[in-house]
Amino acid sequence: MSIEANGKTGLFRILTDNTEYQIKADKNGVLKHIWYGPKTGTDMEYMLDYPDVGFSGNIYEEAYNRSYSLDTMPLEYPGIGTGDFRVSVLKVVHDNGSCAVDLRYDGFDVKQGKYSIPGLPAVYSNGDEAETLELYLKDSVSGISVTLKYGVIPKYDIITRSAVISNHGKDTVRLLSALSMCLDIPYGEWDWIHFAGRHAMERITERAPLFHGIQESSSSRGTSSHQQNPSVILCDRNASETSGECYGAALMYSGSFKTQIEYDQLNQTRLVMGIDPDSFDWELKPGGSFYAPEAIMTYSSDGLDKLSQNFHHVIRNNVCRGKYKTSKRPILLNNWEATYFDFNEEKLEQIAREAAELGADMFVMDDGWFGKRDSDSSGLGDWVVNEKRLRGGLKPLVDKITAMGLKFGIWFEPEMVSEDSDLFRKHSDWALTLPGRKPVVSRGQLVLDLTRADVRDHIYNAISAILGSADISYVKWDMNRSICGRYSRELPSERMGEIQHRYVLGLYELLERLTSAYPDVLFEGCSGGGGRFDAGMLYYCPQIWCSDDTDAYERTKIQYGTSFIYPISTVGSHVSAVPNHQTGRITPLESRAVTAMAGSFGYELDPNALTDEEKSAVKEQIVRFKKYNDLIHNGTYHRLSDPAADKFAAWQFVLPDMSESLVHGMIYKTEANMLRYPIRLRGLAEDKLYKLDSDGTIYTGKALMSGGILLPRSWGDYAPIELYFTEATEVRKDEKI
Ligand code: GLA
Repeated sequence: MSIEANGKTGLFRILTDNTEYQIKADKNGVLKHIWYGPKTGTDMEYMLDYPDVGFSGNIYEEAYNRSYSLDTMPLEYPGIGTGDFRVSVLKVVHDNGSCAVDLRYDGFDVKQGKYSIPGLPAVYSNGDEAETLELYLKDSVSGISVTLKYGVIPKYDIITRSAVISNHGKDTVRLLSALSMCLDIPYGEWDWIHFAGRHAMERITERAPLFHGIQESSSSRGTSSHQQNPSVILCDRNASETSGECYGAALMYSGSFKTQIEYDQLNQTRLVMGIDPDSFDWELKPGGSFYAPEAIMTYSSDGLDKLSQNFHHVIRNNVCRGKYKTSKRPILLNNWEATYFDFNEEKLEQIAREAAELGADMFVMDDGWFGKRDSDSSGLGDWVVNEKRLRGGLKPLVDKITAMGLKFGIWFEPEMVSEDSDLFRKHSDWALTLPGRKPVVSRGQLVLDLTRADVRDHIYNAISAILGSADISYVKWDMNRSICGRYSRELPSERMGEIQHRYVLGLYELLERLTSAYPDVLFEGCSGGGGRFDAGMLYYCPQIWCSDDTDAYERTKIQYGTSFIYPISTVGSHVSAVPNHQTGRITPLESRAVTAMAGSFGYELDPNALTDEEKSAVKEQIVRFKKYNDLIHNGTYHRLSDPAADKFAAWQFVLPDMSESLVHGMIYKTEANMLRYPIRLRGLAEDKLYKLDSDGTIYTGKALMSGGILLPRSWGDYAPIELYFTEATEVRKDEKI
């Protein structure tokens, strides 16, 4: 039993293997947040203090009890207009113009299994590992009710949250904010970790102490964005990878979002997260319900490493779906950086032939194969093969490439249209543009109105036609601009504020249809690299192209940030040519390989341009990745350095049975007479023996974890690190332990 409900005391306990979450309905029906942290087995309300704070109002039932204020107590899902002046989760404007919701407890239910959310991705249960708690709240004046949903997966220390807002009143209301979660933490001094960046430099880790007031990370771009990620960590000031308390939350949503953290007058911390209210205005008719997307939460008292592992487990096992959730991902060669738009079928065949020679599993044909797509300013939307470029059409090319022993993958950017395209000439009203204004163009393209069923049907049919025309095993689903024309020709004017969310719902519907119709096709998400890298997309696409920055040095930083929440198998990562196309930097081929191996591995270069020596290195890398594949994708991942602070990047994988471990990384700079860097390994069995593959030395797990190991002496900059350990049964004769 992971959920305990006590009708008498009003206490609800959600228990995971290592954590406990407590909620309490008090005598006024106010739903308080009591505790989230390690298991205590005690009603933790005794820790809460309710001071009399001037200017913090009192609800009418407690009008003269000056220490009872919704402004000062930890709440589970605060209403609005009730005297709580902190950041809020809900904003409802009633028919009479007033804007208040006073939510009071109205019952509960405990259900086996994990709830799902209509039209939205949600964590699912494998077998009977999950339970659901539903708490009902209502505002008796307006008839607005809120059902708070909690899903619990005890073995991963995961608690999910979602909210359903329903209108049982007689009048239509406007929802201006309907966030997914609120977490009030009454004590502690916290650092805020979030992941910021820009195109080709996503998810750079930032950590800063909270200050009094509100801090936030958000996107109003219609996608979860390169600039911020819908995930957050709060950790104590001294928290490290292996010690300290930390809370994490990841929103399972791919559109505009907002995370706000308020550090208040009483040094309490409130974290709220959900759909971005600034670009949201939803009409809720009598009898209607609105479903907020899911937030995945976890807590670790053992530092950030454990926090990330919890996220990795749940995303890998309970978010990603389909055949490729468990089966090995193909090692692919993508032609984008090899050719850009300059290719024909002959050139692709040459690249594919060499890729097959080198041992790759799949060839992916990127942008440029369709319509009049000679550059990035035309052709999007015309998903018909450009036979001037691919003479003979798609099928003969695919047949030739599959005959080489490769699978075939293809690029689409389904949500977009170029002004210079047949689709736009025929259906200009399908683009999200504002009436009477020139559209904002980005990369020469406009966004299709995915809120419309006819547009979605068209896209579905166009993609199906291509997938049905040849033996295609993979789709790269790209999305290369932010959304700004919030106007749909199909919606009445009072509903225009719904467009951004409706767009995401439309996208999810389309992805659900396609992934169900083509269960054997691997869908890889992409948005100019990692501009839509979130748990929502991972429900449909088990891997996402992590960044358009393929520079191995910069990738160590991007992938470091990504790893706080997202498992390694979800990270699309390729070896590219040098000088790198984004930075001009030259890094060794081996360093590019170990960096790309921390992901769903592949190549993004013209293999014909490699020297013979490089070709043999690539062959060997492919064989090596296949050997490590299970360890990398299903093993436990540990960050061994902070690439922003340390002079090297290092990370480690350990098989669940602790019989194998691999350390990969990069020493950024080499100096003369350089001292070797020590690192401590993690997650090994203390009393097992481990043999280092490169020289056969045997170490105890305890020695590797408490003493550590010295990184190799480097030569040149960006030098690769690889230390592979296998369990040894015997101590080497000449080795003394
Ligand atoms: C985006 C992707 C790239 C490539 C190009 C093609 O930028 O992230 O990998 O597919 O589009 O136009």
